Amino acid sequence: VLLAEDTFLSAMQQEAGMTQDELKQAVAKAALDYIAPRLERNSVIGVGTGSTANYFIDYLAGIRNDFDGAVASSDATAERLKKHGIPVYDLNAVADLEFYVDGADETNDRLELIKGGGGALTREKIVAAVAKTFICIADDSKKVDILGDFPLPVEVIPMARSHVGRQIVQLGGDPVYREGVTTDNGNIIIDIHNMDLSRPIVVEERLNQIVGVVTNGLFARRPADLLLLGTKDGVRSIP
Ligand code: 5RP
Repeated sequence: VLLAEDTFLSAMQQEAGMTQDELKQAVAKAALDYIAPRLERNSVIGVGTGSTANYFIDYLAGIRNDFDGAVASSDATAERLKKHGIPVYDLNAVADLEFYVDGADETNDRLELIKGGGGALTREKIVAAVAKTFICIADDSKKVDILGDFPLPVEVIPMARSHVGRQIVQLGGDPVYREGVTTDNGNIIIDIHNMDLSRPIVVEERLNQIVGVVTNGLFARRPADLLLLGTKDGVRSIP
């Protein structure tokens, strides 16, 4: 996937000291600029969850007559889309999803991601799996050499919590139950600390094999296709 220009620069970005929020806003706008000319009147867009995705939703509202609607990766995102008057479709009712736009908690050079800081990882992974092009939007604090400083979220069926925790320990991780959180699917989240994620695809597959795990937050088997990374020098597109 290629952008017309590798780097978007704005007067605001060139000023020293852009905040993380301003970087998030800048990548959200860059995603809109990328998809807008590629949309058709019947296009449906997959939309992620989190503060960066929220900025994208707000920009999307400005072109809401240029596409059909959206598929949401969480109840919160569906609500925000609807507030802007953007129709929200069930994924099963949609034949084609050209784009999925979402943030991340960490990304490496290969656009393998950790997601799920907001607990929406399962629906995010499903929408990403269906979309032809997954555009990840993130500020540059999310870019790492090796994934794993950010604890890896895992969505778990509630009755399997202890079993899954024990299995994670056997794989070398430290499981921490995310207190007071119930996902949109009625499940719990375990965050894995101190896990070796130098081979993300292997770990993603191993975690998937634990009975009781619904989804883990490694997006390595299906990484992003395009990363729009917000830096103080502008938005970099990778690759
Ligand atoms: C939610 C996610 C988010 O994309 C991730 O947590 C990044 O959030 P933010 O854009 O607020 O930094 O995976 O489950």
